[in-house]
Amino acid sequence: MAGKDAEVAVQPLRIYPDEILRQVCEPVARVDDSVQQLLDDLGESMYAHQGVGLAAPQIGVSRRAVVVDVAPRDEESQLIELVNPRVVEFSEETIDFEEGCLSLPDEAEMVTRPGRVVVEALDRRGKPFTVEAEGLLAVALQHEIDHLDGRLFIDYLSRLKRSLIDRRLRKRQAQAG
Ligand code: NI
Repeated sequence: MAGKDAEVAVQPLRIYPDEILRQVCEPVARVDDSVQQLLDDLGESMYAHQGVGLAAPQIGVSRRAVVVDVAPRDEESQLIELVNPRVVEFSEETIDFEEGCLSLPDEAEMVTRPGRVVVEALDRRGKPFTVEAEGLLAVALQHEIDHLDGRLFIDYLSRLKRSLIDRRLRKRQAQAG
C-alpha cells in the first residue's frame, strides 16, 4: 500500500475483459492514508484520461471507492469522492443517456436508468454525506457504483449488442496484448 508521502500518479487503466472489472469490490473498513491515496490516484487518473468518473477497479484496486466530476472542462471542477457509496433512492422516472467507459474504449451506447438518485457515502475523512443527483450526475454515479459490483454499462444492452461489443474488445485486447 502507498505510504503517506507517496506521489499521486496517473494509473494505467484496466481494460475489458480484464477480470477485475467483474469482481465485487471489498468495502473500505477504515478511511486511512491508503484510501486517501487511492482517491488521489483516481482523481488524477480520471482527469488525465478525460473521464467524468472513475472507479477503483478500473485502476486495479478492488475496493469500494469512486470519483466523479461532471463539470464541463472549461468550468470549475466539481470533484466528488465517494467511499463505500450506496444508492439509497432511485426515482421511477428514467433518463436515456449515451454512456461510455474508459475501460471499454471507443464504445458508446444508450442506457436507460433512473433519472434521479440519492447516494450515501463516506468522504475522504470518513465522514458520511449524502448526494442528491439528477441528469448526468445521476447517470455517472450509478455507472461508477455499478463498477464496484462488477457491473458494466453493456450489461444493460440487448444480448446481441453486448456480444458484438464483447467480441470487438476481446479482439482489440488480443491484438494489444
Ligand atoms: Ni466505467
